[in-house]
Amino acid sequence: QKLDLDLAAIEKGGYDHFMLKEIFEQPQTIYDSFRGRLDVEHNTIALSGLDSIKDKLMAARRIIIVACGTSWHAGLLAEYIIEELCRVNVEVEYASEFRYRNPIITSEDVIIAISQSGETADTLVALENAKKQGATIFGLVNVVGSSIARISDAGAYTHAGPEIGVASTKAFTAQLAVLQLFALKLAKLKNTISEDRYVHLLHELNAVPEKVQWILENELENIKAIAIKYRDANDFLYLGRGYNFPIALEGALKLKEISYIHAEGYPAAEMKHGPIALVDSTLPVVFIATKDSYHEKIVSNMQEIKARKGRLIAVASAGDTITLELAEDTMIVPAADEIIAPLLSVIPMQLLAYYIGIERDLDVDKPRNLAKSVTVE
Ligand code: G6P
Repeated sequence: QKLDLDLAAIEKGGYDHFMLKEIFEQPQTIYDSFRGRLDVEHNTIALSGLDSIKDKLMAARRIIIVACGTSWHAGLLAEYIIEELCRVNVEVEYASEFRYRNPIITSEDVIIAISQSGETADTLVALENAKKQGATIFGLVNVVGSSIARISDAGAYTHAGPEIGVASTKAFTAQLAVLQLFALKLAKLKNTISEDRYVHLLHELNAVPEKVQWILENELENIKAIAIKYRDANDFLYLGRGYNFPIALEGALKLKEISYIHAEGYPAAEMKHGPIALVDSTLPVVFIATKDSYHEKIVSNMQEIKARKGRLIAVASAGDTITLELAEDTMIVPAADEIIAPLLSVIPMQLLAYYIGIERDLDVDKPRNLAKSVTVE
């Protein structure tokens, strides 16, 4: 018994839980997913999996992204980024829906499958179906040699290392990191991005690991205090626009998984069509409000919540005094290009969920009813 406990402690590398360890590994795991791929000296991106289906990708009528859970959120963000940078149609599908609804698939479609485990049953069967209909499959998978990696025609590994915590953290940011590389490389090939923007984004990506490190070093105590303050809430609303909308969904999912608090993620402007009815002085509303082209809009959404006495919590870019003054509590992330910023704004979301789970005395590594890898439908 004692030996088991000691071993578990060693595996956690001095952290109380795998989830916290994995959150703290992210500067390294993001760096690992760039290693050998992102070259800011020569301004190049190496992704041999993309090269091997280059002709298919260049000719693709559309890209369909298939995934479940947190991986689906990475897919949603990829839709925004690939459409913006590569000017190609992207659809994002829940694998469980896609496999049953007789979707129209042709040999001109490229499918990007995103999966940490590479074993999720719904994703795997969706791919088998699409393959039969002639689609080309690009797998973005963490576990080397897994079923989804094997069924893919080409792919890229995320290199996040084993993820033990059931709620995905470092696998998600690794997915985002590789999807950013994928989008930038494809945009360059398709000539849909200016050289200046391309070089700028390459350097912005390269700076992500140290910016994540900054958040972990500087925001921890603040986020812990916010967790203590809101640990007894019954509901949370998470709102974001544009590139930060998928992060609002992911923030809400993390909280649900880890703290069992009901949380809803919503596009900030859509809240007036329903969720705003929930807002009162007891409802914490988390805005993912980093500085981007939607910022003025999201500020007015925050004012709407404030006018209804909602408890305003914001993720804001360093130096954004407007958000700082508006929100009751703020979590700061370093400034970054709007396409890159989600890789930073998700970190406070992970930490907030973790610390609220801890405050509620829950098993954050193994939440009830959830499985790390869902191999049944
Ligand atoms: C389960 C896990 C989630 C994960 C989802 C998809 O629900 O608990 O963390 O996002 O499966 O898993 P995959 O391995 O395909 O990314």
